[in-house]
Amino acid sequence: MQLKRVFSGIQPTGDIHLGNYLGAVKNWVDREKEYDNVFCVVNSHAITIPQDPKVLREKTYELCAMLLACGLKDSTLFIQSEVQEHTSLGWLLTCITPMGDLNRMTQFKDKSQKNPKNILAGLFNYPNLMSADILLYKSHYVPVGEDQKQHIELARDTAIRFNRDFGETFIVPEPLIQKEGARIMGLDDPTKKMSKSSGVDKPNHLIALLDTPEVILKKCKKATTDSENKILFDKDRAGIYNLLTIYQCLSGDSKENIESEFANKGYGEFKVALADLIIEKLKPIRESYLKLIDDKSHLESILKSGANKAREIAEKTYKEAKEKMGLI
Ligand code: AMP
Ligand code: TRP
Repeated sequence: MQLKRVFSGIQPTGDIHLGNYLGAVKNWVDREKEYDNVFCVVNSHAITIPQDPKVLREKTYELCAMLLACGLKDSTLFIQSEVQEHTSLGWLLTCITPMGDLNRMTQFKDKSQKNPKNILAGLFNYPNLMSADILLYKSHYVPVGEDQKQHIELARDTAIRFNRDFGETFIVPEPLIQKEGARIMGLDDPTKKMSKSSGVDKPNHLIALLDTPEVILKKCKKATTDSENKILFDKDRAGIYNLLTIYQCLSGDSKENIESEFANKGYGEFKVALADLIIEKLKPIRESYLKLIDDKSHLESILKSGANKAREIAEKTYKEAKEKMGLI
């Protein structure tokens, strides 16, 4: 039986954190056997915000090692810039996408507000590159966190438009968004999504997958909660709700069991239990990461064979799309 194809991507900027892990990467790993998986470290997306070239190179390899450390085994894993068809198809899709559709993207609005004096055209066009990533592999499913839903809707519209105007070519992809953990919030401010960029100047914002046990404990203890001191999954109390969601995703336990386990306990005790659980789950990842990053040639060979496999699929799709549009 032919497995359905999954594609997803992650940017090699900042520190990969618990939000990335619970919203995306953990699900890639947990469901790896169910699909034919293609995962990509999207360095060409990263340069839509200015990057230091040397840091970007290092972060790209580090993130690849981290994805393997998280448990990916049989997936095709590669670096986006190694397969040039991503940017090539991105251009074709740019030429069939109305500006108005891109103008509606909330991520563009958020990111351009952060640096209003230098909004790059690449940032505006970013969703077309993302559509190309997905459509190149004729992917059925795209496992992502909640924040990417709008981009996937655009990729769907683009696939439908292309198929209508140039003939059946692309599969219309569907997002796979977890019921729990699809939007992990910042520990310092539970009204804001946990994000790599906010982690840069706010030390208690995120838990990085490479944080040491001491740092994890400190950050959990400092996490913003409220004064009610009742450990319940109550969406109106965003701080404790977020911490409980992290606990639930990592333990795999039900909401009811978790609430009864902590029924007569206070926030202090819960925060320590949460830190212990995070430390326990991240320990093997950290250990495996340190081994992988220490053996660069092994890592490079995995990525090279990933890129070769990806390229084989991407070349075919790109050729098909280009010819249908009348390009020689
Ligand atoms: P990025 O860090 O933007 O490259 O995101 C990589 C993946 O992690 C995407 O699937 C995002 O939707 C997901 N993600 C990022 N931040 C969060 C978060 N705070 N909660 C859940 N998922 C997230
Ligand atoms: N835009 C995604 C993010 O910031 C990363 C990404 C790029 C992606 N291309 C993709 C995710 C294709 C899924 C599929 O998180």
